[in-house]
Amino acid sequence: MNKRTLGNDGLEVSAIGLGCMTMSTQPEDRPEAVAVLRGAVERGVTFFDTAEVYGPFVNEELVGEALSPVRDHVVIATKFGFALNADGTRRPGGVDSRPNHIREVAEASLKRLGTDRIDLFYQHRVDPDVPIEDVAGTVKELITQGKVRHFGLSEASVRTIRRAHAVTPVTALQSEYSLWWREPETVILPLLEDLGIGFVPFSPLGKGFLAGSVTADTPLDSNDWRTMFPRFAPDALSGHLGLIQAVQRIAARFDATPGQIALAWLLAQGRHVVPIPGTRRLKRIEENLGAADIQLTAEDLAELDRVSAENQVQGDRYPEQMQRLIDR
Ligand SMILES: NC(=O)c1ccc[n+]([C@@H]2O[C@H](COP(=O)([O-])OP(=O)(O)OC[C@H]3O[C@@H](n4cnc5c(N)ncnc54)[C@H](OP(=O)(O)O)[C@@H]3O)[C@@H](O)[C@H]2O)c1
Repeated sequence: MNKRTLGNDGLEVSAIGLGCMTMSTQPEDRPEAVAVLRGAVERGVTFFDTAEVYGPFVNEELVGEALSPVRDHVVIATKFGFALNADGTRRPGGVDSRPNHIREVAEASLKRLGTDRIDLFYQHRVDPDVPIEDVAGTVKELITQGKVRHFGLSEASVRTIRRAHAVTPVTALQSEYSLWWREPETVILPLLEDLGIGFVPFSPLGKGFLAGSVTADTPLDSNDWRTMFPRFAPDALSGHLGLIQAVQRIAARFDATPGQIALAWLLAQGRHVVPIPGTRRLKRIEENLGAADIQLTAEDLAELDRVSAENQVQGDRYPEQMQRLIDR
């Protein structure tokens, strides 16, 4: 797997990482999840994405356990910033980036990950009550202490990115970006290029839609996490069939899968772009990594640009309580 570099301070990662969010498992499923993560390493993945809030808490434990034998050869990214009670329930307000809280989360994450340093520590959501300078300053302290190597932001606005970067260099921004959601192209991507900040698209497969695993005809199970997103309402999905059809058309030209084309398109958006598709299955990890070998032509890219421009997620991306946490 070829490598890419995030940020000006040279964080080298596999061109495609692994999003671990949905891998939190019941204790009895843990051995299989560990095997999947180790299988990803054997296949060349060196960039793993977790967060305090995934699980909550247990996802970091899983990632830490699975990667402990190869700790020095992988990059572990985790995130702070949600307001959680000890039992994992959310506190009112939703976010908490007060400096003391960041320090506490860093210690707890280090413990759960079973490591002495967090390679990339993202603020998960911007806290409107804490100046971003204080957040960046606190992460800088953790970097000086050797507990954190690099600073990241998630879903932050241009203004926040600039202010944070002026205090502590931001290595990567992690925000939603895919053929289905291209808003970052307007102002975020040019800013990141300008400042030398890497970009880590989350939900690069449109939460499975772009890989063809969800259609309007196959309604989601009521306990599927995606049912909370307005875009997965059957009516909303059926309006975007043109996009998945175009992706499938281009996939056929390459003898590839739709998911591989969606990821190859992201990789073609710049050398500083490193998508983190999420899956619990090793076969799908192998498939997704195959995207790094696909070179889309200028015609393919133009066709995807045109069709995706007509098929963007409309309306709110999140349910109300999550939508209001978006930094503007
Ligand atoms: N910073 C943030 O706020 C934020 C928000 C959301 C996500 N994230 C991060 O981004 C990662 C990825 O995002 P995501 O999980 O929302 O969306 P995604 O990667 O776009 O899609 C994941 C979904 O696609 C399915 N899938 C994966 N590969 C596939 C393939 N080759 N063929 C068919 N289906 C496939 C998975 O199902 P199976 O698991 O069943 O294979 C899963 O349901 C997360 O794991 C997390 O680390 C960050």
